[in-house]
Amino acid sequence: MIANGRDASVPWWRSGVVYQIYPWSFQDTTGDGVGDIPGILSRLDHLVALGVDAVWLSPVYVSPMADFGYDVADYCDVDPRFGTLSDLDRLIEALHARGMKLILDFVPNHTSDRHPWFLESASSRTNPKADWYIWHDPAPDGGPPNNWRSMFGGIGWEWSAARGQWYYHAFLKEQPDLNWRNPAVVAAMHDVLRFWLKRGVDGFRVDVIWHLLKDPDFRDNPPNPDWTPDEPEVRHILQIMTCDQPGVIDLVKGFRKVIDEFPDKLMIGELYLTIERMCAYYGEDLDGAHLPFNFHLLMDPWKAETVGWLIEEYERRLPPGAWPNWVLGNHDNARVVSRLGAAQARVAAMFLLTARGTPTLFQGDEIGLSNGVIPPDRIRDPQEKNEPGLPDHNRDIARTPMQWDASPFAGFSTVEPWLPLVPGWESVNVAVEAADPASMLTLHRRLLKLRRAHEALSIGDVRVLVAAGDLLAFERRHGDERFVIVLNLGSDLIETSIPEASGGQIVLSSKGGRDGEIVGARLMLAGDDGVVISLA
Ligand code: GLC
Repeated sequence: MIANGRDASVPWWRSGVVYQIYPWSFQDTTGDGVGDIPGILSRLDHLVALGVDAVWLSPVYVSPMADFGYDVADYCDVDPRFGTLSDLDRLIEALHARGMKLILDFVPNHTSDRHPWFLESASSRTNPKADWYIWHDPAPDGGPPNNWRSMFGGIGWEWSAARGQWYYHAFLKEQPDLNWRNPAVVAAMHDVLRFWLKRGVDGFRVDVIWHLLKDPDFRDNPPNPDWTPDEPEVRHILQIMTCDQPGVIDLVKGFRKVIDEFPDKLMIGELYLTIERMCAYYGEDLDGAHLPFNFHLLMDPWKAETVGWLIEEYERRLPPGAWPNWVLGNHDNARVVSRLGAAQARVAAMFLLTARGTPTLFQGDEIGLSNGVIPPDRIRDPQEKNEPGLPDHNRDIARTPMQWDASPFAGFSTVEPWLPLVPGWESVNVAVEAADPASMLTLHRRLLKLRRAHEALSIGDVRVLVAAGDLLAFERRHGDERFVIVLNLGSDLIETSIPEASGGQIVLSSKGGRDGEIVGARLMLAGDDGVVISLA
């Protein structure tokens, strides 16, 4: 049954498109230069016009903001910077009224060091929450128990004088890791999930899901022979004792069980792993995460051969019945426009929105925001502050405010925002681009509309036709519908022949100007261009 371009027998998260909102930077309504939930409510028209199906909201929980909300001090309330719990209820309702879903960020690996659980746990060795975090006695020399490092630089252990012990933190020392081997922690966090599911949220993006368990024997991580000086210090060692541990999938399955107490919900898992390991998080019986995040477009070179291989490798490794997903940008990585260039970012958008798998689109990528330029005195990211100067390491560059129009502060705020706007914001913004048929925003809207209108593009099968040189071509097919997507990942003209596309009609091109063209035996593709060809 097809309603609103969607087959009701297909779960919404398979045919839909996820849009990531970074609440610090979407829309400020209070005049403090920081975004808030009423701001998101005031900008829902943008999401409707764009044509996305779900919002994943980065954390809005009560937090001291040592890691911009990924250090949670109360999992069941909203930080006053962003509004109130009833604002969040209103957001759930308003999204639902527009046929969209809300996915919250769930941050289970660690809490804030100001969370009441941690304050209690740190107070003595005998309190009721003494085993809720990862505590360990000092090494014989009084130092940290082993060589585990923090993802944000330095050792991963912090001394607690009150306990005379160290605690482990995979990220900041303000983010102590919970002890997921303790059933009381598991139960408390399951209740957090239920709290939000009962309020009507449609699912969770689970933060650093592959970090949850650590080696129970606290063995050292081995050195990484491939470390290079332009990489963060944590890469000195291989995280084989601290990440992707045996048993972690059982915790993921535990979340899934709770989520399945409610109908039609989604669990996305954040993990930076090989395709093979990533696919383990679906669970053999598809009883793990619905969508373990696929970050390979962020991690691997943007080369036709690589992307073609990724598609095929992914399809090979997916457990039967599992559904893929693709990501081009998020709040932790350099902007796609800055990684690939503005013209090639359009080709990448065409890939993201025609690939087989749920796309996640990061706010700002739809208008072609490039990396922010952050003066040294405005750096906010703790990762950068701890280890300054590494290439693309300052996450502030991807977290700059949304640019809505050409008014002062780009319509984001009435005051100077917490991070600077991207230079050129007077023309790179939603209002200007909405009126320009050749803009990045228009390209995104058209791609999303096309994807929604054709099941071959949303839920169809995929077959790679060519992946060589700068040329990537693949087919999407569902029932009688067939599309061929041909992308030029380089800047030189390509002349090729794609028999599977012959006789088809171009319905969209990345550079524009080719709509309606019938494809013959030869296909010419300008540098940095891509075409979607309909063969229905
Ligand atoms: C995830 C988040 C990142 C955060 C880290 C620690 O990778 O995306 O922003 O700093 O987890 O919670």
